[in-house]
Amino acid sequence: MPLTGPTIDVVTLFRDFFKSPLNESLLKKAQDKGLVKIRVHDLRDWTHDRHKTADDKPFGGGAGMVMKPEPIFECVEAIGKGAWVVLLDPQGEPMSQKLARHLAKKQHLVLIAGHYEGVDQRVKDRLVDQEISVGDFITMGGEAPALCLIEAVARLLPGVLGNAASVEHESFESGILEYPQYTRPREFRGWTVPEILVSGDHKKVKAWREAAAEQVTRQKRPDLLKLSRKSRIG
Ligand SMILES: C[S@@+](CC[C@H](N)C(=O)[O-])C[C@H]1O[C@@H](n2cnc3c(N)ncnc32)[C@H](O)[C@@H]1O
Repeated sequence: MPLTGPTIDVVTLFRDFFKSPLNESLLKKAQDKGLVKIRVHDLRDWTHDRHKTADDKPFGGGAGMVMKPEPIFECVEAIGKGAWVVLLDPQGEPMSQKLARHLAKKQHLVLIAGHYEGVDQRVKDRLVDQEISVGDFITMGGEAPALCLIEAVARLLPGVLGNAASVEHESFESGILEYPQYTRPREFRGWTVPEILVSGDHKKVKAWREAAAEQVTRQKRPDLLKLSRKSRIG
């Protein structure tokens, strides 16, 4: 299939990490249909010594190893001309739906997954356009965060999800959380589905969902409600 969507290049020391996730379900279909091209690069292919060394001890001492700058620069310079280069890093801008939408407009993304104690600071200072964090916690490497970002971006690309409307109402898209969802059976262990949802009255269903979304947000994420009010006003 001809490519109609963006290219996402992932730079990692652990290529196999991505094998299954990129070959399952919607991500696989999206690639098969040419809606996105995802390539995973082994950083060790850009090393030049016998041991394919990609990390070294930190200057100044301390625990752990730091990823060397040379292979990262060489790899990104070879594969990412004109691309928006992202480093997954706990110090980065917090990932959000807004940021996913912004990244989904880029034609070429390079995602660098760090490991060990992280990457040499010169990568951050001189190579990377943006650092992105998936939350205030530390994962073992940037692979899972990179996958998170790929999933968030890919599902926003035209044609990837069967039903575009399903994106519109989702949590965070409208600034608040999504309303509760139910499916068959109508009664399960004595717990029933709200009557309105089976009434067939679309207007009432819509109103119920709006109110329920607001209530869920008030309970679970009141901070979002404040933000969404602010953006509606100003
Ligand atoms: C063990 S972490 C290094 C943490 C680093 N020493 C620090 O304290 O900031 C190794 C790699 O995992 C990735 N990583 C860990 N937590 C992350 C997060 N919250 N968001 C994005 N990437 C993360 C980064 O690529 C990082 O270079």
